[in-house]
Amino acid sequence: MRHKHRITVIGAGYVGLVTAACLAEIGNRVVCVDTDAERVAMLSRGELPFFEPGLRELVGRNGKLQRLRISSSTAEAVDGAEFVFIAVGTPMNADGSCDLSAVKLAARQIAESLTRDAIVIMKSTVPVGTAETVAAILREYAHGARTLIVSNPEFLREGSAIADFRRPDRIIIGAQDPLAIARMRALYAPLRARVIVTDIRTSEMIKYASNAFLATKISFINEIADLCERIGADVTGVVRGAGADHRIGTASFNAGLGFGGSCFPKDVCALIDTAQNRGLSLRLLPTVLEVNRGRVESVVGNLRRALGGLSGRRIAVLGLAFKPKTDDVRESPALALIAQLLERGAVVSAHDPVAVKAARRILGERVEFCADAYDAADGADAVLVATEWEEYARLDFSSLKQRMSGDLFVDARNMCDASAITAVGLRYIGVGRAAARAVHPLPSRAAALSADPAIAAAL
Ligand SMILES: NC(=O)c1ccc[n+]([C@@H]2O[C@H](COP(=O)([O-])OP(=O)(O)OC[C@H]3O[C@@H](n4cnc5c(N)ncnc54)[C@H](O)[C@@H]3O)[C@@H](O)[C@H]2O)c1
Repeated sequence: MRHKHRITVIGAGYVGLVTAACLAEIGNRVVCVDTDAERVAMLSRGELPFFEPGLRELVGRNGKLQRLRISSSTAEAVDGAEFVFIAVGTPMNADGSCDLSAVKLAARQIAESLTRDAIVIMKSTVPVGTAETVAAILREYAHGARTLIVSNPEFLREGSAIADFRRPDRIIIGAQDPLAIARMRALYAPLRARVIVTDIRTSEMIKYASNAFLATKISFINEIADLCERIGADVTGVVRGAGADHRIGTASFNAGLGFGGSCFPKDVCALIDTAQNRGLSLRLLPTVLEVNRGRVESVVGNLRRALGGLSGRRIAVLGLAFKPKTDDVRESPALALIAQLLERGAVVSAHDPVAVKAARRILGERVEFCADAYDAADGADAVLVATEWEEYARLDFSSLKQRMSGDLFVDARNMCDASAITAVGLRYIGVGRAAARAVHPLPSRAAALSADPAIAAAL
């Protein structure tokens, strides 16, 4: 088959490698370049530097078909490219602003390496105005080749990245030049997705507004969960009932340990910083972060009260990644939770289907990492689910209880069947749910209401 376009992707991380593999899969000839020699060596051996369902197969197949190649040299990778995607990391600086050093370096390397006119696409999440900065760098360091800049933020989620890339809700193309817009439309045409074309600044803002909104939705339902605990309502019922309204929806609307990962916390901080730089003090988003910071403390508080203290208690933490189906532990609430447990003198055993290696790099030997959830539960006073891995909902709770020395099950993601857990004689505490009422004594009217079967059925 004739290859459609020659594409280079700068950065072989979660976004870059998925972008490269998916663009290769639809018939393009793609080179994915990374400066991390170890990462390139692993990929060259057919191994993935991180876990993402289906990605190893996709990279392998397109490698064999010579549609996808991994490189460690930007000069070599960019040579002859029609499209160059920048998908490098944009982490958070200590002051909450966005660290653009990798983006700027990549832009300079691209400019110095381009041998023909090309479209340079900002895939990384970058503050408004960054594409213009990148365009200026490209102009400054170019050796004759002309570039058109496009903002094309990515919305994939780790754990379902391939499906998200192939079937996106929308593709945002922020560009000025009609030729760039036409060529981007042609590039993405095989996906048959909804394309929204806008100006560059609006495109950059769309990404931040989307993540800030989702983070807000999570903090909102977490705050409602706290209230549910105190008044004797069940937040899972509230999610079902309120989420049934199509204006609200149930996605990103679960109470629990709060949001983490490499995007929401840093993107919300970057948006606050952007506003501050323009003399605007945002009021809502700092509170979203504050509510989120309190989640781990709230769950640890419930656990401490239920156990009558944490010092010397053995806690089995199930889940280490910031979300299921990934080994990414960046800003993982599970790790923040473990840190708090250790600080309060608890002994922690832990399990995660894929994230143990990444977690061990951060936690070291302070935690006993176990091969499965049952081993982690061995001798534990309490088992706590910190990440929504489906396998934790399917545990044999009777066997789990037999391995434990205590009888407390904390479902910090509201994902397990509370009745199946209490049926085997375990005490169940969710987040914003009925069992947590034992922790916060109910005011009598709320207690009476929650005991009313008609109200219970409505939840
Ligand atoms: N991870 C996600 O779920 C997600 C989703 C949407 C958007 N984003 C955004 O996409 C961007 C990338 O995120 P990620 O999670 O893929 O990051 P990552 O840290 O997993 O990967 C970034 C990669 O870029 C490489 N790199 C850095 N500078 C380079 C250079 N000059 N040349 C070549 N390679 C270079 C690094 O070695 C690393 O392998 C970020 O801006 C992030 O906010 C991430």
